Amino acid sequence: MTHTRIKDLLNSTDFGKEFIAKGWIRTFRNNQFLAINDGSCLGNLQVVIGLNVFDEKVIKKLHTGASVSVKGTLIESQGKGQRVELKAVELEVLGESDPDKFPLQPKKHSLEFLREIAHLRFRTNTFNAIFKVRNALAFAVHQFFNERGFVYIHTPIITGSDAEGAGEMFQVTNLDLDSLPRNEAGKIDYKEDFFGKETNLTVSGQLEGELAAMALGNIYTFGPTFRAENSNTTRHLAEFWMIEPEMAFYDIHDNMDLAEELLKYVIRQALDRCPDEIEFLRNRLLEEDKQKPQADRSEMDLVEKLKFILENDFERVTYTEAVDILKRSKPNQKKQFKYLVDDWGIDLQSEHERYLVEKHFKKPVILIDYPADIKAFYMRQNEVDENGRKTVAAMDILFPGIGEIVGGSQREERYDVLTQRMAEMNIPTKEMEWFLDTRRFGTAPHAGFGLGFERLVLFVTGMGNIRDVIPFPRYPNNAEF
Ligand code: 4AD
Ligand code: MG
Repeated sequence: MTHTRIKDLLNSTDFGKEFIAKGWIRTFRNNQFLAINDGSCLGNLQVVIGLNVFDEKVIKKLHTGASVSVKGTLIESQGKGQRVELKAVELEVLGESDPDKFPLQPKKHSLEFLREIAHLRFRTNTFNAIFKVRNALAFAVHQFFNERGFVYIHTPIITGSDAEGAGEMFQVTNLDLDSLPRNEAGKIDYKEDFFGKETNLTVSGQLEGELAAMALGNIYTFGPTFRAENSNTTRHLAEFWMIEPEMAFYDIHDNMDLAEELLKYVIRQALDRCPDEIEFLRNRLLEEDKQKPQADRSEMDLVEKLKFILENDFERVTYTEAVDILKRSKPNQKKQFKYLVDDWGIDLQSEHERYLVEKHFKKPVILIDYPADIKAFYMRQNEVDENGRKTVAAMDILFPGIGEIVGGSQREERYDVLTQRMAEMNIPTKEMEWFLDTRRFGTAPHAGFGLGFERLVLFVTGMGNIRDVIPFPRYPNNAEF
């Protein structure tokens, strides 16, 4: 007789039948009622320990966190709060848990505290729900693209290129840091290095993805990316997962349509596949909201918020229009923004993005046609406008509570325009010949975008800190495990 998952037992009507359940103790009440959870669902199975049936020595080991195996009869529960329970006939403690040392107690712990013990936070319902939603979203991403004939391409994690040109890279070397060989100029001599050149952890799989798209047509990547930028915020990680589709013969409008369709699809899938988890997270947020003053409470609950995304078209706005709106906005006039919007050309901060989404349009916004000078070299240049302004066919999707969730563009497919832009931006072409070959041989219009997976999970779970939606977060001074 193998064991049965608690999720199945909680739904079973096989009363009178014997089952084996295994799991971890959440609570033990009145020396009689054990609540055990095996991770299969958020609910616990109530196990009734008949008085005087079990050895005192076993009973003494029943503490929160211990793992047990129970054989018993499934019965209809007389008590409130559960439909079924297991009347134990055999009980074995598989692994003890010292109640004086186990940090998780049967009470609500703060997320800050749980972050300190991130190795154990999996055992809470909150994190169980978050990681199930994360799993459903990842699955939905693959499903979305595969239903549409996109090919999943694995791009390298170790690379020699800086796709975003932002220089926020973690270097990779097998050399001994203490005795790094230097050349005459005092620079690290990468000839001695494993790869014989400077390499780093990838910041984006896009450039390699473009190579594949220019042959396979429609591709996507979905893998870890790394940025040594200031990730001491609730929206940044040093290691995050990104989904990057790249499509031959797409322009910026096709690109926006696909991104909007993808976001709606995966959110719909999460609602369909994780109703219990999302309901749990919704209630968690409602509880949290109750602690806040009326004015700070959310207008929509989590489910309403997700459905709102599904039911509304994203607003498509140019950067220039957005700057005009921001300039005239109340927080700008009253100098409430930390960075005031005074000039065309500024890089928008998350306070500006959130104003546009949450206060002005009150729905997701796709901002397009950004100034060329604040965007990456590979974005397609638009015609210079009547004011002599240079923009590129970039698109950022901004979500309520999150800010930027997607960044993408139509790519510069014209060899001359691209290489001239690279020269202007001091990007050496020597190391990029492999990339430029796509423009040399059969170049074609193409476009793509990057969806930050953790920002998506953050949105769908309603959590407030990105460190809580990835199992093993990496941020400054934190690389445990
Ligand atoms: O806007 P980004 O930097 O765009 C790119 O990397 C392009 N190569 C994508 C493409 O066109 N293929 O990053 C894309 C998205 C952002 O919109 C954001 O959601 C997420 O990645 N992101 C981060 N998420 C968590 N932590 C960080 N430090 C992030 N940096 C970017
Ligand atoms: Mg971006």
